[in-house]
Amino acid sequence: MQSLEALREQDPELFAAIAGELQRQETQLELIASENHTSLAVMGAQGSVLTNKYAEGYPGKRYYGGCEFVDKAEELAKARVLELFGGERANVQPHSGTQANMAALMALAEPHSRVLAMSLDHGGHLSHGHPKNFSGLLYEFHHFGVEPETERIDTARVAAMARELKPAVLLIGASAYSRILDFPRFAEIASEVGAKLMVDMAHIAGLVAGGVHPSPVPHADIVTFTTHKTLRGPRGGAILCRKEHFPLVQSRVFPGTQGGPLMHVIAAKAAAFGEALRPEFRSYQEHVVRNARALAEELQAGGLRIVSGGTDTHLMLVDLRSLGMTGSEGEDALHHVGITVNKNLIPFDPQPATKASGVRIGTPAITTRGLREVELRRLGKLIVRALKGRSDAAEVQRVGAEVAELAGSFPVYPSLHRDYGLRD
Ligand SMILES: Cc1ncc(COP(=O)(O)O)c(C=O)c1O
Repeated sequence: MQSLEALREQDPELFAAIAGELQRQETQLELIASENHTSLAVMGAQGSVLTNKYAEGYPGKRYYGGCEFVDKAEELAKARVLELFGGERANVQPHSGTQANMAALMALAEPHSRVLAMSLDHGGHLSHGHPKNFSGLLYEFHHFGVEPETERIDTARVAAMARELKPAVLLIGASAYSRILDFPRFAEIASEVGAKLMVDMAHIAGLVAGGVHPSPVPHADIVTFTTHKTLRGPRGGAILCRKEHFPLVQSRVFPGTQGGPLMHVIAAKAAAFGEALRPEFRSYQEHVVRNARALAEELQAGGLRIVSGGTDTHLMLVDLRSLGMTGSEGEDALHHVGITVNKNLIPFDPQPATKASGVRIGTPAITTRGLREVELRRLGKLIVRALKGRSDAAEVQRVGAEVAELAGSFPVYPSLHRDYGLRD
């Protein structure tokens, strides 16, 4: 690829960093639940000349000339995302999930309004009311969690809190919750207390697109999501909404919270939505969930506790307290054998977030590179060995070699290896 050649010649130091990252992705196993490996087509769109174009505004109504081709790309992204998820209107410009949430909240409620959402400590997200995030700074957030016995959301408790607090918005969505979310019930609760229902399906958007998690779209006033997690597109956000909210959503995205849209990223979103419309995507998502179940079962068989007893989705939270280790130590132990995860609070965690008692594990990325249940069972055993044998240098080396061998059997971007000087 000529653009790569140019980069290699002009800036070897930066080129080496990118090549290093490719090598890391190829030789290690990515189990961070919010990550994925996009297609070459998505990266092609994102690395295109569309990065040069200013296009403030919306298709047909821009503040800049020369937008006829970027308009086409944005129209494609909008049409495809509506075909994929249904919904009345779409805005594909948010730069990220947090930007989408900011615009959506500002379209649904005035600053200082009350919002009821899931607590970050129990699996929610920073943009759902963390005191240092725009959400917590601008809105009066109240939080519900999971139940101590089941580690699941109890919708009766959410309803009771909603009746008492009368929030303007009920915000449903999570970063670390592994169970099905009951959107029809949340819609009933919102309607009973006169709240708007906003769903942030960032984590599960791909599962919803693939038909393996129920869709919030028919039930919510506004649905936001990221395009880069299970949905396997470029890093970015998007919004679906009912038509009555559309004018304000458009205005809250631009000029409300963003300037010029990232047209190259919007083109890459169009490419990803196009891929998600294909039948193979449905089968990919089925494997994501089956893989997660197989991995959870294997970890349980190895003596580890999975929060809530298992998973219905692409992710699970693993409680490491029985091994006498923190999430942070677990993250390090797995890093040493070439497996990437993140430490994560578990519900009612006695540890601070910087240490945490658990790790969050997800299957979207390894499913993309082709691993299936048989490999997930093998990987589960390797994870258990890596955690239990973390102080045994020989065992760490043995497990690391097996992980490298497994990763090597499932290359992610074989056609890029030569361009970046990687040895096969
Ligand atoms: C539920 C949820 N919402 C929003 C976001 C924010 O996305 P971004 O990092 O693109 O701002 C995330 C990211 O992890 C998330 O899990």
